[in-house]
Amino acid sequence: MSRSKKVELFGERILLRGLRETDADTLVKIANDAEISKYTPLPFPFSLTDAEKIIGGTRNAMNRDKSYFLGIEFDETIIGMAGLLNLSRPDKSSEVGYWVGKDYRGKGFATEALKLVIDFGFREEQLQKLWGRVTENNSVSIAILEGQGFYLVERIPKARMIDGVLTTDLVYELTNHSPP
Ligand SMILES: CC(C)(COP(=O)(O)OP(=O)(O)OC[C@H]1O[C@@H](n2cnc3c(N)ncnc32)[C@H](O)[C@@H]1OP(=O)(O)O)[C@@H](O)C(=O)NCCC(=O)NCCS
Repeated sequence: MSRSKKVELFGERILLRGLRETDADTLVKIANDAEISKYTPLPFPFSLTDAEKIIGGTRNAMNRDKSYFLGIEFDETIIGMAGLLNLSRPDKSSEVGYWVGKDYRGKGFATEALKLVIDFGFREEQLQKLWGRVTENNSVSIAILEGQGFYLVERIPKARMIDGVLTTDLVYELTNHSPP
């Protein structure tokens, strides 16, 4: 059954919220980055058309209860994205994903966003398992997942080509230990 809902997750410094058409120009400025494209499905270069596709696509996926991939708002501007992807109601599980624009990295924003996403997934959406898939050499992202208690469950060799090299992906999981 499809449903439409507004999701707003308030942290100490950030707000996670659905992207709007008016975010398109900002999205182009922060997402047009080879580093993001290396580790996420976002294209590089990243155009206004790409931004519009993502804004429409994420809204559509939220309305279909398939994913909740939200903008990270800080100081009234979008600085990245984070949320639940590939949500499975039958399995009560979802992937987590995140990226932060380069001017805003190293300030704990991804960590703060992931904490909000975990709380949303486990407490509000009543999921039992969250998982993240990360390339073996993405040590910052691995540190973020491990910092929130995610544990390694699988290695997927030759998962993708990065800078001409076949790299291994790691799958991390986090289980909801509160009663369903
Ligand atoms: C990975 C990414 C989201 C991190 O965002 P961020 O907001 O800079 O992350 P945080 O500031 O929350 O840092 C998380 C941890 O990594 C550490 N860290 C941050 N930048 C680092 C760097 N350049 N080198 C080493 N460690 C670093 C931080 O110290 C922190 O560890 P701590 O909590 O133990 O102090 C961001 O670099 C990014 O968008 N990269 C490209 C896309 C991507 O890789 N997405 C994830 C796909 S799985």
